[in-house]
Amino acid sequence: MAIKVEISTDDVRKVVREFKKSRNFSFENYAEMSFKRRIEYLLVSHNLSGIDELLEKTRNDSIYFRKCINDITVNTTELFRDADVWLNLRRNVLPALKDKSGINIWHAGCSSGEEVFSMLILLNEMNLLEKAKVFATDINTEILHKARNGVFNHRFNNNYFQNFDKVVKINPLNYDEKFDVPYDKYFEQDELSKSFRIKKFLRDKVTFKYHNLTEDSVFYKFDIIFCRNVIIYFNTELQNKVISLLHESLFKDGILLIGVHENIAYLPVGSKFESRYMKGLYVKK
Ligand SMILES: C[S@@+](CC[C@H](N)C(=O)[O-])C[C@H]1O[C@@H](n2cnc3c(N)ncnc32)[C@H](O)[C@@H]1O
Repeated sequence: MAIKVEISTDDVRKVVREFKKSRNFSFENYAEMSFKRRIEYLLVSHNLSGIDELLEKTRNDSIYFRKCINDITVNTTELFRDADVWLNLRRNVLPALKDKSGINIWHAGCSSGEEVFSMLILLNEMNLLEKAKVFATDINTEILHKARNGVFNHRFNNNYFQNFDKVVKINPLNYDEKFDVPYDKYFEQDELSKSFRIKKFLRDKVTFKYHNLTEDSVFYKFDIIFCRNVIIYFNTELQNKVISLLHESLFKDGILLIGVHENIAYLPVGSKFESRYMKGLYVKK
């Protein structure tokens, strides 16, 4: 039977306060309920007696604190997650970038890299890969390591190839037309360990880096920013701050993608976006 721990809202606020005080790490404007569930999960999975033990251990051990940050984050992701997003990019967004000499892309909150590799595959299919400069960032250092490695397990990710077929093997302008794109163009299968690895020519295109969206600045401008399924963990105030940062980091007419179940509650002053093509896709005006 799964063990369950429940903590109070006061406990949650104490954890947030203490992390800020002892480690200068702020979860201050994360959505309280989901942060509470993650702390409860942490207490069970780390076999801790309660938040006091958690706070004592994190106060005295920076490596342990980092492990806690990694385990607090939710890293759910998928290759070609939400096929419609990718079909829309393919049909409506990427063709307009053909004449540009360079395309700067940022995946903020990239998790284990599936979203990044999906984009690289699409760029390659559209002969745009050469022009692309790709940055991918996250606050989870372990998941960034996994992303750099680009190895995924078949058993846990058996829908990846179905998604690939839906997006890569179909002409988005004529669904009856199929493209013959073999999996080994992009993946090395390892039958023994039942895993597959993203080929080196794609892995080498990405710079994976630690970056905290809620604290760190950005010194670059992008044509496309992915920040999908990340702001859902923030409260409205923090969402506002992050959307402003993403707006500032885009070129005019640049594209912002958030998750299909996410909303920009209200646009921060000075930020002008136009919703285009599908839910979650915005153009900077
Ligand atoms: C649910 S995953 C989304 C992955 C991918 N974008 C997708 O939609 O499939 C959310 C990611 O956001 C990262 N994250 C959470 N807070 C963050 C922050 N303040 N700065 C950067 N990344 C953050 C988490 O570590 C996690 O990997």
